[in-house]
Amino acid sequence: MSTPTSTPPAAPNRSFGERLKSVPTLKTQRIFALIVLIAQAGITFTGSLVRVTGSGLGCDTWPLCHEGSLFPVPGANPWVHQLIEFGNRTLTFVVAAATIVLFIGVLRANRRQEIIALSVVSGIGVVVQAVLGGISVLLDLRWWSVAIHFLPSMILVFVAAVLYMRIAEPDDIAPTRRFSPTAQWLVVAAAVALCLVLVTGTMVTGSGPHAGDAAAGMEGRLQLPTRTLAYVHAACMYLYLAFTLFSVYILRRDNAPKDAYNTSLVLVAMIVIQWAIGVGQFYLGVPRWTVPLHILMSGIVVAFTAFLFSHGNRRLPLLEPGQYNTSTS
Ligand code: HEM
Repeated sequence: MSTPTSTPPAAPNRSFGERLKSVPTLKTQRIFALIVLIAQAGITFTGSLVRVTGSGLGCDTWPLCHEGSLFPVPGANPWVHQLIEFGNRTLTFVVAAATIVLFIGVLRANRRQEIIALSVVSGIGVVVQAVLGGISVLLDLRWWSVAIHFLPSMILVFVAAVLYMRIAEPDDIAPTRRFSPTAQWLVVAAAVALCLVLVTGTMVTGSGPHAGDAAAGMEGRLQLPTRTLAYVHAACMYLYLAFTLFSVYILRRDNAPKDAYNTSLVLVAMIVIQWAIGVGQFYLGVPRWTVPLHILMSGIVVAFTAFLFSHGNRRLPLLEPGQYNTSTS
């Protein structure tokens, strides 16, 4: 694949039609990538609203809303539940549209294979998620089916965040390692610990009070003590925080690039905020309003973990302090 360094800058005073036909600039592509990132994280937030308002079976089948109707039907279920569940399903099309626009944009700009591949994964992921969401409805919101629907969204947020970082890098410059092997190892270890936090989080939810719909029976819940699971979940979080703090220390010791170091500091701040929400909801008995916040912060923490991971290897024109000269390609 040919790898242009950058696409031509947008000429001023061009009509909307001309702009549509032109090759998107790096800046425009990055905006597309940011929209996909926000959309991927945003739909987990709206999905959590479905769960805490007990609207998960507002549309009680899939892909139709009710037998014989694609749309909500008056009287079939409480209208608020139908509206919330139907609204969340409709948002899938918005996320899908964002990934299609991004894909067409990077294709027209003839970007390197890595960028095309990440945008394809983003798009296919939305389709997979629509099917998994449908399966969880058909399974009456069994806890594990809801978990299997939620966790891929976190992968898609990670992919979108990496794409947001990578898309701004010119294609014709080789990637350079910017972290020492120790820092790189710690960042990867933190990402692995985050996976444990997310998986155990879905288990706490699976045993907790918010099943997603009053009609979702107890046989679909995880029959383990919520309190114990919450302790395991929190322990995984402390491991994640420890690896992240250690990587902050090593980045500072190694005089790593400032942008990477600053990202690690923001990540620590986000984890602490998420910790406070998690502990708060645990002691308050998981009130409904804390759950969407905890989900939103999960997406943000995942995105910043991905940003930090991406800082370890970048295609940048100039050598910076702390940059390692070993080219990786
Ligand atoms: C980086 C830190 C954390 C992350 C990324 C995280 C992530 C998550 C995730 C993904 C879920 C499942 C959401 C769902 O399936 O809908 C969850 C649930 C939960 N988390 Fe955390 N969590 C963190 C820290 C904590 C801490 C420190 C506590 C304190 C014990 C905590 C308490 C809970 C509780 C009680 C639930 C169940 C909420 C429900 O029933 O909906 N979390 N967490």
